[in-house]
Amino acid sequence: MEFPYLKNNSAVQKVPIVVLLTAATTLIILSIVPLIYFPLRNYPSTLLKTTTTTSSDEPAATVAALHSRLVEEKVIRVADEEGGKCDIFVGEWVWNPDAPYYTNTTCWAIHEHQNCMKYGRPDDGFMKWRWKPDGCELPIFNPYQFLDMMRGKSMAFVGDSVGRNHMQSLVCLLSRVEYPVDDSGLDEADVDDYFRRWKYPNYNFTLAAFWTTYLVKSQQVGSENLFKLYLDEIDVKWSSKMQEFDYVIINTGQWFFRPTVYYENNQLLGCHSCQMPNVTKLPVTFAYRKAWKTALKAIRTNNNRQSVIFLRTYAPSHFEGGDWNEGGNCLRKRPFRSSEITLGGVSLDVYLTQLEEFRAIEEEGKKKGLRFRLLDITQAMLLRPDGHPSKYGHWPNANVTLYNDCVHWCLPGPVDSWNDFLLQMLKMEGRRSYEEKIQPKRKERRLIN
Ligand SMILES: *[C@@H]1O[C@H](CO)[C@@H](O)[C@H](O)[C@H]1NC(C)=O
Ligand SMILES: *[C@@H]1O[C@H](CO)[C@@H](O)[C@H](O)[C@H]1NC(C)=O
Ligand SMILES: *[C@@H]1O[C@H](CO)[C@@H](O)[C@H](O)[C@H]1NC(C)=O
Ligand SMILES: *[C@@H]1O[C@H](CO)[C@@H](O)[C@H](O)[C@H]1NC(C)=O
Repeated sequence: MEFPYLKNNSAVQKVPIVVLLTAATTLIILSIVPLIYFPLRNYPSTLLKTTTTTSSDEPAATVAALHSRLVEEKVIRVADEEGGKCDIFVGEWVWNPDAPYYTNTTCWAIHEHQNCMKYGRPDDGFMKWRWKPDGCELPIFNPYQFLDMMRGKSMAFVGDSVGRNHMQSLVCLLSRVEYPVDDSGLDEADVDDYFRRWKYPNYNFTLAAFWTTYLVKSQQVGSENLFKLYLDEIDVKWSSKMQEFDYVIINTGQWFFRPTVYYENNQLLGCHSCQMPNVTKLPVTFAYRKAWKTALKAIRTNNNRQSVIFLRTYAPSHFEGGDWNEGGNCLRKRPFRSSEITLGGVSLDVYLTQLEEFRAIEEEGKKKGLRFRLLDITQAMLLRPDGHPSKYGHWPNANVTLYNDCVHWCLPGPVDSWNDFLLQMLKMEGRRSYEEKIQPKRKERRLIN
């Protein structure tokens, strides 16, 4: 048993996990650069504790059940290759001895802090699982097929360091076929891949990264650990480039748990975790919802390219035995079964908020020829407490105070499955957009009759 404090009683086990996940959402992006800029070790811990008490009282619904409800309502439906109706986002992890499909020696794109083998992680079982949807198969990522489909196309990743984690997994999976060449040009490329553009020469495929922590305009207050968010103003560093891309994969999440002050129309609305006695306290989801609204509206109004936009859902963190700054850690060596854990508290609130904003924009997007899709990895990743770097994101003797990273994902690792999902969705895209195009015509005919 890896967790002495959880005992062997599975009934007891289930509750603390849900509670701890709630607490864990107070966590911040742990990549070293934000740590240097905004040293987390200086946070008064009371600031961070506040969010743990805001968990909602509603019973924890399972993500799978929520997802299934959307499928029933025909909001999300991803068919399997045979054209059957199967929800690829509901399933279990099964053992896959063939994984991984790259290593830290065949792929140079692994970020230092996710190169867990380099920093001495002793076990490698976490690499050897694949996602098995209930009722169908999710094929393992095929880099040749992916690049073939992307010939002459362009794809952008927009978001935070968990989004970068996803992109680097994609570069690594594709490295079996081809390495990209840097094509950043006037974009300010940097070692951390905040803003970068690559080209796959043999496929004329462009891949780009746009770093944005909140999607909307934000500003750090001096050197304090406090951010001003302008919830109705888009972060133009990414939004102004979106018309150049055929596919956009967008995410945001963990940064909203930091101390933040909210503005709209340049008026102070309130804050979260901010310790300003006169300012209205607002929940994380208040800003999260508005940020998505602003971001999706910006994409809808600025894009005439008929792009496909994938909203990647919230990836839960897995601190146990304490919060991120209280010695919490992720030491499990195996995935959960779906019966062993449910999403709850603020994590659930954040997930639901994103689903609601997705549904709101989806119909509007269609009118402009834009296709919004939900890359709904939340349930799959909830089951992967074993896939985080923990203390293996740096040398053990490094002279920096780094916390156990239970937010990002080791590469190779469970994030590789996000590209299994992505390729499957791309394969379905042709059929799906065709169906959507003929759907309105059918309705018209009915009206005429
Ligand atoms: C790759 O991981 C091994 C341990 O499996 C480590 O010894 C090596 O330094 C790592 N190499 C790179 C380039 O990260
Ligand atoms: C590469 O793709 C772009 C579209 O992304 C297209 O405009 C261009 O002509 C292509 N170049 C070649 C050499 O095929
Ligand atoms: C907070 O409100 C009180 C009473 O309205 C006022 O006296 C005080 O100056 C305010 N403090 C700040 C920091 O705005
Ligand atoms: C490590 O940190 C300590 C205290 O911050 C400092 O005194 C020491 O010089 C550092 N050591 C190295 C090798 O950087």
